[in-house]
Amino acid sequence: MIVANRLPVDRVKLPDGTLGWRKSPGGLVTALEPVMRSNQGAWVGWPGTAGEEADPFVDDGLSLVPIAMSEQEVREFYEGFSNGTLWPLYHDVVAKPEFHREWWDSYVTVNRRFANRAAEVASEGATVWIQDYQLQLVPQMLRDLRPDLRIGFFLHIPFPPGELFQQLPWRRQILEGLLGADLVGFQLNGAAQNFVRLVRQRVGHKTHRDTVYLPDGRTVQATAFPISIDTNGFEELARSQSVAERATQIRAALGNPKRVLLGIDRLDYTKGIYPRLRAYSELVKDGHFDVNDSVFVQVATPSRERVEQYRVLRDDIDRLVGRINGDLGRIGKPVISYMHSSFPRHEMAALYRAADIMVVTPFRDGMNLVAKEYVACRFDNDGALVLSEFAGAANEMRQAWLINPYDINGMKATILEAAQSDDKERSRRMKAMRKTVIDNDVAKWANKFLESLTQLRPNHTKPVRPARLS
Ligand code: G6P
Repeated sequence: MIVANRLPVDRVKLPDGTLGWRKSPGGLVTALEPVMRSNQGAWVGWPGTAGEEADPFVDDGLSLVPIAMSEQEVREFYEGFSNGTLWPLYHDVVAKPEFHREWWDSYVTVNRRFANRAAEVASEGATVWIQDYQLQLVPQMLRDLRPDLRIGFFLHIPFPPGELFQQLPWRRQILEGLLGADLVGFQLNGAAQNFVRLVRQRVGHKTHRDTVYLPDGRTVQATAFPISIDTNGFEELARSQSVAERATQIRAALGNPKRVLLGIDRLDYTKGIYPRLRAYSELVKDGHFDVNDSVFVQVATPSRERVEQYRVLRDDIDRLVGRINGDLGRIGKPVISYMHSSFPRHEMAALYRAADIMVVTPFRDGMNLVAKEYVACRFDNDGALVLSEFAGAANEMRQAWLINPYDINGMKATILEAAQSDDKERSRRMKAMRKTVIDNDVAKWANKFLESLTQLRPNHTKPVRPARLS
């Protein structure tokens, strides 16, 4: 059973005015949805809007258990503590985290609601896998209610070094919440080490390497499991006739330029969209790229739109794109083709196929699945990936053109190098990255995590039955 802040589908108003469901945004759902659909599990989560408790329902073989949140809880738990406190704190304080006691109270209340509901629907001895920073208290709350369960937790975003984490007034409660799990998974080794060190220093438990020894004899393991994507699914899509046709159409609509550069991100201040567009515009201004035969396509998916820092970011990017196109564009030839919208997988695959250079420049990112999706779609071993060294993906994809997003001149030089690289060089790099993404897909990631969890609690030998939905 998965417990995640979001259900894999959001409740939305459809164009005809009726209510319907649409796939939720972000890396977590992208990664876990295919795994769960093939395992016929249950998924406990929030449908994405404030409102009443809805009944569980089955969507395409997956049992969905909606958790309600009031308007105030959306403000204090989701927009507040999750995305105004934890998100910036865990991403290297790229923006300033805010600490408010009422936000914390709401975080505790909503985490308890998730734990209670999970405790109600999980069958005897079930494996429950809790996801991400919004639900860090759930592991211990759930263990208190249901000691028979096997509990795993995975953090999709970075786990910060002690110097930053210790700013959090509720640091000890968070650590103790996570210690309710048998296995705590992180994207990178460094994050797992940060966690174990903090547990030793702040909670005072004995630790050895990746294991924490609790006073009651239980152990908790903290290990890195770098997440991935449905590699085959993306490659198949990319190879399809309809995606190939769409990719040709996209290039034609852009005026069949010599070079298409591409950025696709949730509109988030961690993604480094601003310095990326600045770097590219300076390359145009310096004469290295010509608007007549090059274009930068930037897709920014709307995200957390009521949170102040996200509103400010949107205005900043709107203004920057307007200024760059105003200063350097020509009639019918923008420097940046900018879209503030989300696209289905098919269109994403076509964009990846249409792009000569994919530019991924976060200041800090747990993994970054867009980088992996691009590589999965480049079955021709062509295309260049420019990637921030501060994305988790850079750990596995060393053959990308790596950049430091804080260093605009360095970023300019590397984008240019990627653009001027010969076929052989691009193919050498792409082949190596493709091997990584093909050998390590999301199914393997989930299996590895669940196998480790099973081995850690061998006393639970009962087969995992489907969840009982009440
Ligand atoms: C990231 C987080 C997810 C989150 C997603 C979308 O991928 O790791 O937990 O669901 O962003 O953000 P949202 O706030 O819209 O759920």
